[in-house]
Amino acid sequence: MKILHTIQDARRFVWNLRSGGQSVGLVPTMGALHAGHLSLVEQGRKSCDAVVTTIFVNPTQFAANEDLDKYPRTIERDIELLSAAGCDAVFIPDVSEMYPDGSSTFVKAPDVGKPLEGEFRPTHFDGVATVVLKLFQILPTSHAFFGQKDYQQLRVIETMVRDLNVPIEIMPCPIVRESDGLAMSSRNRYLSDSERQRALCLSRALAGVQTAFQNGQRDVAKLTEILHAPLADTPDSQGVDRVDYAVIVDCENLQPIDTISASAVALLATHVGTTRLIDNCVLRCE
Ligand code: PAJ
Repeated sequence: MKILHTIQDARRFVWNLRSGGQSVGLVPTMGALHAGHLSLVEQGRKSCDAVVTTIFVNPTQFAANEDLDKYPRTIERDIELLSAAGCDAVFIPDVSEMYPDGSSTFVKAPDVGKPLEGEFRPTHFDGVATVVLKLFQILPTSHAFFGQKDYQQLRVIETMVRDLNVPIEIMPCPIVRESDGLAMSSRNRYLSDSERQRALCLSRALAGVQTAFQNGQRDVAKLTEILHAPLADTPDSQGVDRVDYAVIVDCENLQPIDTISASAVALLATHVGTTRLIDNCVLRCE
């Protein structure tokens, strides 16, 4: 596996493959890799002739009070995992390579980034859209793979690619979970044993909604009650410490709906201890 640090080497690597007629998949990450990330690489290998992963903890998507400094960095292990997963190259730029002094042009994320995460992290999606568009320019691949774990992020990127005519096909990939249901996340390692136990109420809440939906419930107010119940503290089980949002919304524009006619998405953002956890599930009528 090639390890690339400069923009010039990264671009040349992708150009060489593409000019030979090969399809190339891009997997952007912030490292601290787990099986969720590796599933994107695997999907890339199935769909494309070659796969390039990027590892860059992007400072512009973290607000001043967020975990940029303590974000886990496990670069040696990440390289081993990617190599074992059959990734063809990894691009690991420095912050100064991505944002040299004087960088002042930024992408304004589309409207679908405004509700929910956008309300709690107002500058987050501008930072994500900026770095992802830069990665698309540096690595002009044919496809790019994103996890549905970050559902709103996926919608932001799909919309940006459409609005700005970026010639890259966005490939959504399903959420990978631990065997007990917890959605895999680089931030799970912040959780203590008891917090991790409590964090299971997110996937339980989503499973409850999924079951009610499969049994024919289409009323969003009723489904939202089912979504909230496991998150609360009860004598039998402890929930989360704070709910940023727990909603069921239109799966395209993420706006509120009253009933589900075709499809919707249940989206959760909560705090367990000092760790912020997100999860979701798409509800689709057969
Ligand atoms: P990061 O959190 O490292 O995630 C990288 C990619 O892995 C994203 O597309 C994310 O949705 C996907 N992913 C994470 N956990 C997953 C899981 N459990 N199952 C499936 N896919 C999962 O998202 C980012 O980095 C950054 O915002 C980035 C897009 C790289 C821009 O900086």
